[in-house]
Amino acid sequence: MKVSVVGAGHVGATVAQNVAQLEIANEVVLADIVEGLPQGKGLDLWESAPIKGFDSRLVGTNDYKDTKDSDVVVITAGVPRKPGMSRDDLLNTNFNIVKSVTEEIAKYSPRTIVIVVSNPLDVMAYTVMKVSGFEPNRVVGMAGILDTARYRSFIALEADVSVKDIQAMVLGGHGDNMVPLPHFTTISGIPVTHFISKDKLNAIIERTRKGGGEIVGYLKTGSAYYAPGAAVAQMVEAIAKDSNRILPCSAWLTGQFGIKDTFVGVPVKLGRNGIKEIIELPLTDEESAALKISADHVKVNIDKLTV
Ligand code: NAI
Ligand code: 2OP
Repeated sequence: MKVSVVGAGHVGATVAQNVAQLEIANEVVLADIVEGLPQGKGLDLWESAPIKGFDSRLVGTNDYKDTKDSDVVVITAGVPRKPGMSRDDLLNTNFNIVKSVTEEIAKYSPRTIVIVVSNPLDVMAYTVMKVSGFEPNRVVGMAGILDTARYRSFIALEADVSVKDIQAMVLGGHGDNMVPLPHFTTISGIPVTHFISKDKLNAIIERTRKGGGEIVGYLKTGSAYYAPGAAVAQMVEAIAKDSNRILPCSAWLTGQFGIKDTFVGVPVKLGRNGIKEIIELPLTDEESAALKISADHVKVNIDKLTV
């Protein structure tokens, strides 16, 4: 496996670190437009290998030739939001960045699977699919695993149980109208409402929806990267090991859930060829309506683009 991460900023470097430590790739390439940044971070990460005990070779570069024939490319290039900004405010800037990055990736790694991270996530996934011309199963957006991890971490605190025992899914676009699914939320198979009152759960859902903003509010100069980096690495691992994990990811819909022609977060089966299947859960009318609203919001932004 060769994994390239474009954008050696906070998220990109964290992805590279997590992927290298998992030892699922022989080679991890960190690429960025800023001279010296990917080389410095790549070398620093490689120097941690003897301590952490991993053999994935890490290199940094400003030249896309070094990403040639990657099996997986992760796109984190772009600007993050600052306090007061929504993810949608990044649309035009990140569209131009992601478009130019995609052109290079398609040129050097025409068979790769792309994991998109740059925001606004679902719209950037659409940009990558259109610009690359790749089949939809080879373009997958990371957001649902992060949003679900936030939801699971808050539930673990409230119920005072291990995070490992919490099963949940947050669907929808990566925005404030994402769709947590309380009736699919269990703690070791037991409905979450056995442990947490409805009011407390609603507060957790609200906190999850605004989870990205909560971190931006603290950091002030950028957005989250530890949990996002771990989430991307989980996707890379599912692809590398062809493990058929069922994970909430942003995928191109062609009628599933009554939604078409947009990327939005849904449960997918993830393996060596990218998205092997979209899992259509039986949603309640309320959940289904919420997913449609969230998807429509993504579509409004897609329609603003000329790809
Ligand atoms: P950052 O500012 O730390 O890093 C971005 C990097 O992209 C910088 O090193 C910059 O030099 C590089 N870059 C800019 N233009 C480039 C180009 N044309 N080619 C190559 N590299 C280029 O930002 P951070 O925190 O790493 O976030 C990156 C993106 O990921 C942001 O858009 C952010 O909103 C998004 N994000 C999305 C998440 C999700 O759940 N989907 C979670 C966290 C961040
Ligand atoms: C987040 O949710 C920045 O979208 C990113 O933290």
